[in-house]
Amino acid sequence: MAKKRIKVLELVFETSISEERIKAEVERIAEEMNRDLADKNPIFLGILNGAFMFASDLFKQITIPCQITFLKLASYEGTKTTGAVKQLIGINQDLRDRTVVVLEDIVDTGITLDTIVRQLNGYEPREILLATMLHKPDALQRQVRLDYVGFEIPNEFVLGYGLDYNGYARNLPEIYTLVKE
Ligand code: IMP
Ligand code: MG
Repeated sequence: MAKKRIKVLELVFETSISEERIKAEVERIAEEMNRDLADKNPIFLGILNGAFMFASDLFKQITIPCQITFLKLASYEGTKTTGAVKQLIGINQDLRDRTVVVLEDIVDTGITLDTIVRQLNGYEPREILLATMLHKPDALQRQVRLDYVGFEIPNEFVLGYGLDYNGYARNLPEIYTLVKE
């Protein structure tokens, strides 16, 4: 497939993962979850803003009894993590004894997920499972045990499919990587 180039604010990006590949991967993850979690009455926890598209596409493919809720966090400014994770919207559901499936757009340093898992443990869930559309293994700074991963990608800034650059480009149906010039 020919690479598409786009400009977002002052930066140039090109396609790295097509819409078709994303769709196939979301279906694979959903099939695994439908099998693994059939008797667990899971509650999905989407991490806003970035995971909204992954959460929506995945959730439509889940065929077992389940619930979904969202948590809003922010840790990025521009193309670099600020290190500090702010929790903006908390959890108002009873998670005690539940199987919680965290849905992330991307795991970069792992600081966000690590923070979420620590906070979630306070709600005494039965188990916490971690699912992410994208994972940058080379950027990892915290040990996080990922249960479902869509794509492992190089340590480069990406956007599209829910991921943004200063709030833009979340609407793109495929994933783009920053072009270094
Ligand atoms: P972490 O805490 O460093 O793992 O970063 C996690 C959060 O940072 C993700 O949920 C994203 O919102 C954001 N993020 C990390 N890498 C990227 C990227 O390449 N593009 C856009 N957002 C990113
Ligand atoms: Mg995110």
